[in-house]
Amino acid sequence: MKIVHTKHDVRDAVAAARAEGKSIGLVPTMGALHEGHLSLVSTAAAECDFVIVSIFVNPTQFGPGEDLERYPRDLQGDAAKLQPAGADLIFAPDPEQMYAEDACTVVSVGSLIEGLCGAHRPGHFDGVTTIVCKLFNIVQPDRAFFGRKDYQQLVVIRRMARDLDMPVKVIGLPTVREADGLALSSRNAYLSDEQRAAAPKLHQALQAGVGAARGGATGAQVERVVRDALAQEPLFDVQYVQAVDANTLQPLGEGTGPMAIAAAAYLGKTRLIDNVAVED
Ligand code: PAF
Repeated sequence: MKIVHTKHDVRDAVAAARAEGKSIGLVPTMGALHEGHLSLVSTAAAECDFVIVSIFVNPTQFGPGEDLERYPRDLQGDAAKLQPAGADLIFAPDPEQMYAEDACTVVSVGSLIEGLCGAHRPGHFDGVTTIVCKLFNIVQPDRAFFGRKDYQQLVVIRRMARDLDMPVKVIGLPTVREADGLALSSRNAYLSDEQRAAAPKLHQALQAGVGAARGGATGAQVERVVRDALAQEPLFDVQYVQAVDANTLQPLGEGTGPMAIAAAAYLGKTRLIDNVAVED
C-alpha cells in the first residue's frame, strides 16, 4: 500500500491500475479511521480490484466555530489500519493541493440540503459535494463507498452523481455501531465518560421512533416520540429530530410510509448525528 500526496501521483496510480484492467474503488474519508470506515474499505476491496482511500480534512465543509482545527489527524495510525483492510493507495493531500488560492467553483445540490443537517450547518453540504466531485474527477472511480450514518450526505452525493452524469456508482453501507448502539464516529473521541454513557440514548430514542412508525404513527407523531425519549436524558441539547421521506428528504408531517428518522444532538460541545430507516 502506497501513500501519495498529489493529484498527479493518484492519476498515475489509477492509470497503471486501469492499464492492468483493474476496476477502481474510492472511499473518501477525513481520517481518524474507525471500524465504520474500515468496513467501507473491506467492502470496496471485495467489489473492486484497486482501492483508493482519500484522507483529507476538508476545510470548506466546516463552518465558523466548528472543529476544523481540533479534528483528529493521525495519518500513520490510519495507514496501519488501512493496509489489513485491503486498501491499495492512500491519497492524503494538503489543502493547497486541493484548492487553488483563487478557486471559486462550488457544486451545490438544491433542495436536498435545505433540511436536516443542512438547515443547521450553512455551506456544509456545498463543501462536501465540491470536494467529493473533485475526488471523483481526480480518481475517476467505478464505485465510491459512503456510510449510511451520514444519511443526508449519502442522498446528496447520489443525487449529485446522477444529476451531473458522473460515471460512478455511489454505494451506501450500513452504520457500524458500538455494542450499546452508539454509531461509530471520529467525533466520539471528544466525549467525556459521562457523555459517552449518555450517547447511546440517541440511538435508543430513534429506535422508539421506529416502533411508533411500525405501529402506524405519522411523521409528526414519530418525531414527538423521539423528542420525548431524548428529553429523558438531561445531557442532550437536541438540535433537530425529523421524520423524512427517505428519498426526497422532505418532512413527512402528517404522512406515513417509508421514512428516515434522523436526529442531531449536542453532548457538551460534541455534535452527534444518527438516523434509522423504516421500510414499509
Ligand atoms: O464523510 C466524510 O468523512 C466527509 O464528509 C467526506 C465524504 C470524506 C467529504 O469530505
